[in-house]
Amino acid sequence: MIRRALVLSSVVTLTACGMDMDHGALPAAVPMIVPEPWTGSLSVPVLPDDDPASDVVSVALRAAPAEVEYLPGRRVEVWAFNGSVPGPTIEARVGQRVRVRFTNNLPEPTTIHWHGLRVANAMDGTARVMQPVPSGGTFEYELLLPDAGTFWYHPHVRSDVQVEKGLYGAIVVRDPSEPTLPVASEEVLVLDDVRVDPTTGALDEGEDERAEMMGREGNLFLVNGRRSNATVSARAGEARRWRFVNAANARYVDLALEGGRMVRVASDAGLLQAPAETQQGLLLVPGERADVIVWLERPGDTAILRARPYERAMGAGRSEPVDLVRLVADGAAALPAPALPASLRSIPALVVSSEKVQSVRLGERMGDGRMEFTINGRRFPDVPPLATTRGAVETWEIVNGTEMDHPFHLHGFRFQPEGVREWKDTINVPASRTVRLTVEIDARDGAAGTWMYHCHILEHAENGMIGELDVR
Ligand code: C2O
Ligand code: CU
Ligand code: CU
Repeated sequence: MIRRALVLSSVVTLTACGMDMDHGALPAAVPMIVPEPWTGSLSVPVLPDDDPASDVVSVALRAAPAEVEYLPGRRVEVWAFNGSVPGPTIEARVGQRVRVRFTNNLPEPTTIHWHGLRVANAMDGTARVMQPVPSGGTFEYELLLPDAGTFWYHPHVRSDVQVEKGLYGAIVVRDPSEPTLPVASEEVLVLDDVRVDPTTGALDEGEDERAEMMGREGNLFLVNGRRSNATVSARAGEARRWRFVNAANARYVDLALEGGRMVRVASDAGLLQAPAETQQGLLLVPGERADVIVWLERPGDTAILRARPYERAMGAGRSEPVDLVRLVADGAAALPAPALPASLRSIPALVVSSEKVQSVRLGERMGDGRMEFTINGRRFPDVPPLATTRGAVETWEIVNGTEMDHPFHLHGFRFQPEGVREWKDTINVPASRTVRLTVEIDARDGAAGTWMYHCHILEHAENGMIGELDVR
């Protein structure tokens, strides 16, 4: 009550004098729960393919309430795909056709969006291209896979609520023609943070002004739906590939592997041109992915995968570093360090086909007593769509007119950040800065249609920060 009054009074002053937003009255961020180190599995089930044809993968996904244990001994209700958080991983190869028979057993409508996959427009899972699947309903998605990489799936209806409740899963697309990396094993590590009651473990879904303004940050980090600080044992020198997905509503995660080696080999949409060291940290904004190769150098070493604080504005993300995973080498003699190929693939630099620049300005304003988020001064669905044609390669200028960072995400197409030869679909746009992208509007079947782009802080997206792209 008192907090709301404070916020409202500051709002009134601001509207009156037209100055910059004052975010000073936000409630404080909740302190993090720091679990004791624990030992157990981080594995995620893989969806079984029930079609014997080699060019088709056929799977079934069902969204429904389920129970999980985020804190030991505390079973709590979540929403999940096939009963687990994350949902089962979809594994496929480039060029395959994936059929997903989806059933909605949630008490409300939903869809599935395939984040980063360049699918046909009608399969993109937004309410613009399909009628949300009603409670009890079914829908069959059909996805053709042009790219290898680490992707993910999640609902695109009330995503701030539905994703927070546990509806997300990873997609791994492999390309047999890619160089083989010298790894002994491979795991998907889906990162999230949830706000739970420290005593009961129950998901705390109360909205407050901080969540509304900054996006919801939790007090418990999850790695593959398990509380942070799992211990994984390894042999020195033995490399593994970790495919990270940041599935959090709003949390930026700046990763570091302290005490071990971590080399990045892939970003959102597949391999980099060459392996890259990560000593400077590896920032993953909501929606973003990265693949890394990790190993320990000496017998007995312990490496800690840490989420280091990254303050994206006004206290959001400010906390002590949090230990996510401990990698512990047994006493066995070290294997030789993995020999990573010097070059992973060659990525052509995109050449723009027109001088036209698409401009997207991320903004905020006070609406009816609450903050609203805007694109080009308007709030979705009142944002006039950008227009383009299949086959175009164009510059997009994303201007951040606010004092907080926003993760920009484009559906259906991939881009290269200006001057960076890497395929991406999600990128941070730092506070008050401009990011230029070269976007490839490819001409594949199904590329025509209306696609969304938006901030991947899901509370911001649901509160207006979505725009559309008409591709003809
Ligand atoms: Cu993960 Cu509209 O996206
Ligand atoms: Cu997406
Ligand atoms: Cu945002």
